[in-house]
Amino acid sequence: MADIIIRNGYILTMDFATEFRNGVVVIENGVITEVAESTNQSADRIIDAKGGVVMPGFVNTHTHAAMTLFRGYADDLPLEEWLKDYIWPAEEHLNKNDVYTGTLLACLEMVKSGTTSFADMYIHMNDAAQAVKDSGLRAALSYGLIDVGENRSTDIELSKGKRFVLDWNGEAEGRIITMYGPHAPYSCTQRLIKGVKEEARKDNVKVHIHVLETESELNQMKEQYGMCSVNLLDRLGFLDSEVLAAHCVWLSDDDIEILRGRGVHVSHNPVSNMKLASGVAPVPKMLDRGVNVSLGTDGCASNNNNLDMFEEMKTAALLHKVESLNPTVLPAMQVLEMATVNGSKALGIKSGILREGYNADVIIVDMNKPHLTPVYDIHSHLVYSASGSDVRTTIVDGRVLMKDYNVLCMDEQDVLDRAREAAANLVARVKF
Ligand code: NI
Repeated sequence: MADIIIRNGYILTMDFATEFRNGVVVIENGVITEVAESTNQSADRIIDAKGGVVMPGFVNTHTHAAMTLFRGYADDLPLEEWLKDYIWPAEEHLNKNDVYTGTLLACLEMVKSGTTSFADMYIHMNDAAQAVKDSGLRAALSYGLIDVGENRSTDIELSKGKRFVLDWNGEAEGRIITMYGPHAPYSCTQRLIKGVKEEARKDNVKVHIHVLETESELNQMKEQYGMCSVNLLDRLGFLDSEVLAAHCVWLSDDDIEILRGRGVHVSHNPVSNMKLASGVAPVPKMLDRGVNVSLGTDGCASNNNNLDMFEEMKTAALLHKVESLNPTVLPAMQVLEMATVNGSKALGIKSGILREGYNADVIIVDMNKPHLTPVYDIHSHLVYSASGSDVRTTIVDGRVLMKDYNVLCMDEQDVLDRAREAAANLVARVKF
């Protein structure tokens, strides 16, 4: 007897072109055991997906989840001013409780908008991990290491990163995996970057890093090292298929070739890059060359102020069309792949497609809505017309976290109240 059978929905497997107009997904012990037109199996629980699209949940490959507490705190500012005058001072006052509450709020938002896995890099990560554990989501978590600046020690940072990696890898029934998170080539010394790589290999975990987000990083690296971030990282022996590089906006053709050759995974964050006016990442070129490009929202405060992967997909599709003056660039199906299967590859998790033996990380998108009627092309609707609020049901690891818009994994009102309170206290401390 299976645990769950999802019936009557349009099944979009993201497993090559396999789709069923009216199919079933069978789930047992947290794993998908059958995806087909119909099944002979029976289950404890039947979920009727009539009028919906059953698809893998989204994989958000770059965020700083607890930054939900800074949602709308400082908008429309230059990056330097945004960071130095607003975000960094506020982050200095962030305590463990804030990170727990902010991450839980992020998880609630993700459950409600169809994200089932995410890659996070932040501070007070024990508390972020506890929130992920409590929420039921899946995540690849890293403590953000920085050793450039006052009162920073390479050894202390590295040991903090390692402690977190060892303490949490495989926790929450395997829903949590850990990574090393050296913040960026300009905020970490070469010694730290080399140290991280050594430890990550020993501990058999991946590494999450920001790379060439801004032109000022490119200029600073050239001035300091006589080469760009990609070249420096490559010279340090850092780049391989265990690396997730966020942003990758200011890449040369040679840099793309290095990333491809090393098998580095990229997280494209179009909304953040647009909002902070960082630039346009050469995504079509990377995809053409065979680089695995996934999608991320970045922290909430540098986004549309939300964590909605539908908005991220739509923005990616539109941005690269106008940038290249070519409407055939990044078609809907390719963007859906970036948001699902490419993301799972980047994190090394068995999610992102509906296939036997894969994690039961599944969402149902409600198509019975005015803005989704009529349907000619499901993929096109998902990218251009749907939004996070159209997600009706969210399942992670075979556990139903939201059913027909009712959040079952946490007390929604309580999370909202706690987040408001934490944000108000935080801002009061910052301004004092
Ligand atoms: Ni970031």
